[in-house]
Amino acid sequence: MNGKTALVMGVANARSLAWAIAEQLLAAGARVGFSYQGERLKGELDKLLVDKPGTWSMQADATSEADLAALMDRVKQEFGELDYVVHAIAFAPRAAMEGRFVETTPDDWNTALNVSAYTFVAVARHAEPLLREGGSLITLTHHASQQVFPKYNVMGVAKAALEAATRYLASDLGAKGVRVNAVSAGPARTVAARSIPGFGTMFEEAGKASALRRNITNDEVGKLGLYLLSDLASGVTGQTVYVDAGAYIMAMKPQGTE
Ligand SMILES: NC(=O)c1ccc[n+]([C@@H]2O[C@H](COP(=O)([O-])OP(=O)(O)OC[C@H]3O[C@@H](n4cnc5c(N)ncnc54)[C@H](O)[C@@H]3O)[C@@H](O)[C@H]2O)c1
Repeated sequence: MNGKTALVMGVANARSLAWAIAEQLLAAGARVGFSYQGERLKGELDKLLVDKPGTWSMQADATSEADLAALMDRVKQEFGELDYVVHAIAFAPRAAMEGRFVETTPDDWNTALNVSAYTFVAVARHAEPLLREGGSLITLTHHASQQVFPKYNVMGVAKAALEAATRYLASDLGAKGVRVNAVSAGPARTVAARSIPGFGTMFEEAGKASALRRNITNDEVGKLGLYLLSDLASGVTGQTVYVDAGAYIMAMKPQGTE
């Protein structure tokens, strides 16, 4: 990826899935810029970037049109043009994940779908003028978009919207030779995941119930991200690709994993 440029959005700390993908991009030789939600996250990111020469970072709330416009100005100034975008952003108010889905309030619905799905559309629109032919965008999703997981609630609906948005964006940006895909990851112990009530139990169960009889590693998410961004996936767009150790293909837990 020498000569390629990437914007990675959503690193909160070293356990973030966005960081796993960024590490792969940096190892492959891409130039990488980062955006973080708010100033309280700057310190963590600065620590990660201290031994990564050539990187830069900037605050940008993905729900703010003004922040996204300023971010793309910075991308233009640093890189001129852009090849890759990693969108690893999601949020739902805790109250919406504690109770029953049927009790989701309009405000919580709007917040979850705005932050977790619409921001991918907004980011793509702001990035479009800078994207080079052969460019590629990815987002991060979860199988709760397709099947019911306890407590995912409105986040499952947001992920379904995100995956549909991925297909529509792939059609629009495909006209410029730019690809758009979603990485559907099995559970990983991150800040966002820990906000899901009962996540620890779900993590254990997902490991046992997977074809590979284990959980995925962040590194494996990073490698799928790298593949989808790179020319190795030059004919792949609009897809939701799973890296879940073969969890969702199983109708029942494999025998011997009670
Ligand atoms: N961890 C898992 O088990 C898992 C599984 C599948 C998919 N995912 C998805 O991966 C993505 C990354 O999450 P993660 O698990 O690495 O957790 P994380 O907490 O490390 O990352 C989530 C990021 O979203 C950012 N964010 C939230 N609201 C924002 C806003 N308004 N503007 C800008 N940034 C905002 C946070 O600052 C944070 O950096 C999310 O879309 C998540 O749903 C996670």
